[in-house]
Parts: sequence; C-alpha cells; structure tokens
Amino acid sequence: MTDNPIQRAMPRQAVILGGTGMVGRAWHGLLTAHRVPHRVLSRPEIDLLEPASLASAIDERDELIINAAAWTDVDGAESAESDATRANGEAVGVLADRAARTGATLLHYSTDYVFSGHAESPYPVDAPIHPVNAYGRSKAVGERLLIASGCDHLLLRTSWVYAPWGRNFVRTIASLSADRDELRVVDDQRGRPTSAESLAVTSLAIYLAGGRGVFHATDAGECTWHEFATEIVTLLRRRCRVLPCSSDAFPRPAMRPAYSVLDLSLTEQLIGPRTHWRVSLARVIERLGA
Ligand SMILES: NC(=O)c1ccc[n+]([C@@H]2O[C@H](COP(=O)([O-])OP(=O)(O)OC[C@H]3O[C@@H](n4cnc5c(N)ncnc54)[C@H](OP(=O)(O)O)[C@@H]3O)[C@@H](O)[C@H]2O)c1
Repeated sequence: MTDNPIQRAMPRQAVILGGTGMVGRAWHGLLTAHRVPHRVLSRPEIDLLEPASLASAIDERDELIINAAAWTDVDGAESAESDATRANGEAVGVLADRAARTGATLLHYSTDYVFSGHAESPYPVDAPIHPVNAYGRSKAVGERLLIASGCDHLLLRTSWVYAPWGRNFVRTIASLSADRDELRVVDDQRGRPTSAESLAVTSLAIYLAGGRGVFHATDAGECTWHEFATEIVTLLRRRCRVLPCSSDAFPRPAMRPAYSVLDLSLTEQLIGPRTHWRVSLARVIERLGA
C-alpha cells in the first residue's frame, strides 16, 4: 500500500456473485443506491463448484467483480473439507485468473477464522495465517490463490456478519428471546460484530480510495457473543435473561478461535474511523422491529 494510492472511479459496470447471501444483498442495495449498473448472480446460474460457470459469468466490461459467494457452513466444512476448499479456494483462483485477463478488480471476502485465535490484541493484516478449522483453511487457500494471481484485487477480511435478512446471530437471538425466559450464550469468544450493510459501505469506500491488497473490513469495537446477545435483547426490550456460559456447554464440530478481533488501523488510515458495532446493531434492530 502506497501513501498516496491511486483512487478509483465508481465502476461503470459491476457483477455481484452470491446475491442471495447477506453481503451480496447488501451490495445490491448499495450499488442500486449509487445507480451503478450491475448484475447479481446466484446459484444455479453460477456454482463455485463448477469453475466453467464462473469464468463465463464475468463480462469483459465488468470493472468490479464482487465475490460474496462462499461455502459459509463452518461446521459442515469439517466433514466436507474438499468441497469447501473447491468453493472457497479453487473457485477464487478461477475468478482471479478471469479478472487478470479482463483487467477487472476482484473484491473478495475472507474471514477472521484464518487466524488461530490465540492473540490478545487485534490481528494486523500481515499476522501469520493459522486457521483452527476446515472453513478457515479453505478460506486461507482462497487468500493465497488471489494474492498469487497478480490480478488487481481487494482481499477484505471480515467477521461476525449479520443483516436484517438471512441466517445470522442477531435474527436467531431475536427469535429465541421472543419465546424464552432465559438464554445461555458463550462468553469465551471475543470478536467484532459487523453489519453486512456497513461492510458493503466500507468495502466500496476502500475500493474508491484506491485500496489494493489485504484490508480488514469490520465495524469498530469488540465484544463476546454473550455481550452481543445482551445488547440485542436490550435493544429489543425483551425480558429474556442472557446468561454467560463457556464454549464447552455447546460442543460443535468446528473449533472457534477464542479471540479474532481484526486490526482496523490500515483501513481507518485510508477511509477514516469505522462505525461502532453498537451503532450498526441499533440501526439493524430498528429495521427488524419495522
Ligand atoms: N457470515 C459471517 O459471519 C462471515 C464472517 C467472515 C467472513 N465472511 C465471508 O463473507 C462473505 C459473504 O458471506 P455472507 O455472510 O454473505 O454469507 P451467506 O449469507 O451465507 O451467503 C453465502 C452466499 O454464497 C452462496 N453460495 C454458497 N455456496 C455456493 C456455491 N457452491 N456456488 C455459488 N454460490 C454459493 C450462497 O448461495 P445460496 O443461497 O445458493 O446458498 C449465498 O449467496 C463470504 O466470503 C464469507 O466467507 C462471512
């Protein structure tokens, strides 16, 4: 990253892969608001497990390719690591090769789960990669192939994504707390909740500011899942009590990193301070209520 990156103009044509997902949908809303002509592609039109469907989906006039499609079933990846790696690794290589040929910028998402989770302070962008589960390993393969491809790219690591739509922690807690008097939520994993809509805004800002290479793209602040759930229930004014518990109380197939806060200094240097997760959450909860 140079001190004075070459800024980019708003793309004249873009394509979003993974339009049914939380982040893909947020991007569709954002590009529509900015009147950027774009296509939104999802299965079966494109399939990360069918490389030919990816290369042919990219038009030569696409200036920006947003890859918001991924194998996101973290627990499922443990028993299907080769498929997860094809989707999160090899497919990224195919997209990157195509972008290198057409001259497009490939904006791709990776995860806090590429890190081991043993740190005690936020992970900088160049911290050693050491995933603790199959999903993290599959995303790390995608990172390597993208960086090695030589295409113009933005590799954005994010974490704990939620939206007013899709399957996510906020909607799960909102629904459970409506029917229950008490919930138990783990308090030994620390990270950064990130609204999909503020992620799309941050991603576009990094793109326009001329960011190239690896950036962290999350909301600001940090918390445990227990603190996150407590805030959701408080904002919803539910009477449900949220009790802390350890991860051992909810054994899952995939190990989770204990600490996965991503350092934002490079991002904030380029585009300014990010919104605190409590502020983004309040905006989403208002919409859930509506
Ligand atoms: N969610 C998080 O907490 C989180 C955290 C860190 C990083 N990320 C990364 O952020 C990006 C966006 O994720 P998200 O949160 O928006 O996830 P999501 O809501 O689960 O959406 C995933 C998208 O990928 C599509 N997809 C899955 N398998 C596919 C395949 N074989 N071929 C084509 N499309 C496929 C899904 O389509 P279908 O509707 O057809 O399944 C969906 O559109 C991903 O790269 C993810 O790894 C997410």
